[in-house]
Amino acid sequence: MSESNGKAAAEVTSISLLKETMKQEEVPHIFVILGASGDLAKKKIYPTLWWLFKDDLLPKNTIFVGYARSVLSISDIKNRSEPYMKVKDGERTKLDEFFKQNRYVKGSYKEEDGFEHLDDVLTAIEDKKKDKPANRLFYLALPPSVFKDVTKHIKAKCMSKRGWTRVIIEKPFGKDSASSADLSNHLSALFTEDQMYRIDHYLGKEMVQNLMILRFGNRIFAPVWNRDNIASVIITFKEPFGTTGRGGYFDEFGIIRDVMQNHLLQILSLFAMEKPGSTDAKDIRDEKVKVLKRIEPLTLDDVVLGQYVGDPDGDVDAKEGYLDDPTVPKGSVTPTFATAVFKIQNERWDGVPFILKCGKALNERKAEVRVQFKDVPGDIFSGNCKRNELVIRVQPGEAVYCKMMTKKPGMSFDVEETELDLTYGSRYKGVSMPDAYERLILDVFCGHQIHFVRSDELAEAWRIFTPLLHKIENDKPKPIEYKYGGRGPAEADELLKKHNFVFTGTYKWAKPAL
Ligand code: NDP
Ligand code: BG6
Repeated sequence: MSESNGKAAAEVTSISLLKETMKQEEVPHIFVILGASGDLAKKKIYPTLWWLFKDDLLPKNTIFVGYARSVLSISDIKNRSEPYMKVKDGERTKLDEFFKQNRYVKGSYKEEDGFEHLDDVLTAIEDKKKDKPANRLFYLALPPSVFKDVTKHIKAKCMSKRGWTRVIIEKPFGKDSASSADLSNHLSALFTEDQMYRIDHYLGKEMVQNLMILRFGNRIFAPVWNRDNIASVIITFKEPFGTTGRGGYFDEFGIIRDVMQNHLLQILSLFAMEKPGSTDAKDIRDEKVKVLKRIEPLTLDDVVLGQYVGDPDGDVDAKEGYLDDPTVPKGSVTPTFATAVFKIQNERWDGVPFILKCGKALNERKAEVRVQFKDVPGDIFSGNCKRNELVIRVQPGEAVYCKMMTKKPGMSFDVEETELDLTYGSRYKGVSMPDAYERLILDVFCGHQIHFVRSDELAEAWRIFTPLLHKIENDKPKPIEYKYGGRGPAEADELLKKHNFVFTGTYKWAKPAL
């Protein structure tokens, strides 16, 4: 085994080992939630920490410290976050234990004094185990407006003196190439890349993580994963609700920045990258960057943009179009739906359209990768064979299925569409699937960066999207209206058709009894 392969194997197997080791050690770990009074903290971060805590996955000696400007007690934090914690009967004692491990510090984001005080509190916690190293994790559950000040103050006042420091940041990582580079430069002047964990929560989803294993752990896929066999690849995100309540925030970004530039492009890069030399984070992220570099920036001709309007016949929510949301600026042309065609100019993918499609207020909740294979050459079945499709469904209900042709069972010799179906709900009954944030936060404790976004990946992603985003902002093309609860504009289906996706409408799925 080569040295790098050995290291990779060690990285994969070390996750469980590391968890074990951390449980036993008495090393203090302090998890600081900056923005502890906010929505993200109460809905996601505190609940995730609780789930990890109750499953005994965190180092034994972990203390959670909330930081925000408001006057808050631990019971305030408990009252706010508990509704999202899904606490089961019999878990109350453990929940009390969890909150006993919590502290709260009030302070400003802009001024350094607050961080001096925070550091005093952290040091006092660590000093109870003076003979041990002590590690600090900072989660920035904060608006971008205070990102720079807060990271500057962490660096100046709060770095661990006896162990490692890791900083977790959430999107938006800028709004275009220039603003993202500005933020990256600011951060790289303060922290090394291995201290920074940029979260794209799609990288914490089971089936997104599974992409690498499916591709590189199966001989059957490798030979067909290329332009000779694949006609088109469609990566879809659909949500059946609008922006209600968040319209003001959303309008600044639009669906391309909200979902496509990050979540869907991450999936694309994992799908299309070459095989990395190992499962080492560096090797994987190098390959993701390489494939992104081979994608030309998008133009308006490559996209269909849409904005939902109310459906007068729909339910109460569906009656409201995007522009009816009082928090959305009047006459906004921000897209709530987008389909875009990408071309990867390399030997493997030359000529294969990669279509990214995402939208709000559509007919269903779904995230999936759909690979449509080319027609079988030299047909002998009178044109009755349909294209094979491999579908990797990220949510809801994780599944991998392959649409294929079979002989119609019985006396006939007709061909019929069917599927090879791996439905997680039936194959892995009883296996509980962790939330994306649970995996990712645990990864930060373990120092695993595979599922986090590196700064050069981010720069490439913005390079691909920035010209289009600027064009949209300058020219303000009017998005095509689509009805709340529908499949989006018909023009998006036309674009897919033009780019080698064939929809026959003939496939019928008979859901097996679970
Ligand atoms: P479909 O034949 O329904 O194909 C769906 C694809 O075609 C999607 O890309 C869809 O786009 C697109 N499409 C749908 N309608 C049109 C249209 N009018 N014009 C152009 N394109 C269209 O097959 P599915 O693979 O979706 O399977 C059908 C159902 O069976 C699904 O609900 C699926 O979840 C289920 N199934 C579940 C399995 C499992 O759980 N293991 C296994 C197999 C199937 P869009 O994404 O925009 O809708
Ligand atoms: C977020 C977007 O990143 O992802 C939201 O900002 C979107 O607009 C959400 O609703 C979807 O995440 P999930 O995990 O529910 O698919």
